[in-house]
Amino acid sequence: MTGLFITLEGGDGSGKSTQASLLADWLRESGYTVERSREPGGTELGLELREIVLHRRGPIAPRAEALIYAADRAHNIATKVRPAVERGEIVIQDRYLDSSVAYQGAGRVLDPTEVRDISLWATEGFMPNLTILLDLDEAIGRKRLDQARSAYDRLEAEHGEFHARVRAGFLALAAADPERFLVLPATDSIESIAAAIRDRVTVLLG
Ligand code: ADP
Ligand code: TYD
Repeated sequence: MTGLFITLEGGDGSGKSTQASLLADWLRESGYTVERSREPGGTELGLELREIVLHRRGPIAPRAEALIYAADRAHNIATKVRPAVERGEIVIQDRYLDSSVAYQGAGRVLDPTEVRDISLWATEGFMPNLTILLDLDEAIGRKRLDQARSAYDRLEAEHGEFHARVRAGFLALAAADPERFLVLPATDSIESIAAAIRDRVTVLLG
């Protein structure tokens, strides 16, 4: 029996962790074994890399940034996610390789195919069964972050134009792979987004 790998993507403050929690609770209540993960920082090594990539003072070259995210991803998939899926569990993860294509590709303006290929190498081609994209205007995401917490990390601190490119990058990825993606407007209510996600996951579970 093989499990499922479900990822949530979207801009900062789009509601990924809120929805990941609700989906995990619902699946556990239905009797499934669920593992939560996130990138960057799903593992102990990943937490160290997360600290560097999000909070290091001073510049990080765009290609170095892309490789740090890919290193975090390689370790997370090899030691945590793939083993859980092979045990038949459902892994729900905040962010995955689509974030690298959107942030390092569209945002930092690296070649999106090259960025994707680095992650595919890092994970031996491990792909999600379903990716939920919570689509949000960056200005609304920023307002939510301002209400929720105080300091921006290195990526959140980027200007509005950067985040607009990231959003367009995500939408282009979803348009190119409608089988894998479920795109939902992140301004809908928390409950109606959760219900749409449950409907799609029910289909996936057969
Ligand atoms: P992310 O993990 O994508 O950064 P969070 O789940 O942490 O986003 O949500 C960011 C903030 O927005 C939180 O304060 C959360 O309560 C709020 N939020 C989440 N979903 C919605 C929604 N659909 N409508 C309004 N606010 C929301
Ligand atoms: P995250 O902890 O999900 O932040 P938030 O809850 O605010 O959405 O992600 C941290 C930041 O890292 C986020 O701004 C997006 C960025 N990121 C990349 O630039 N590339 C990547 O490959 C990943 C996984 C995240």
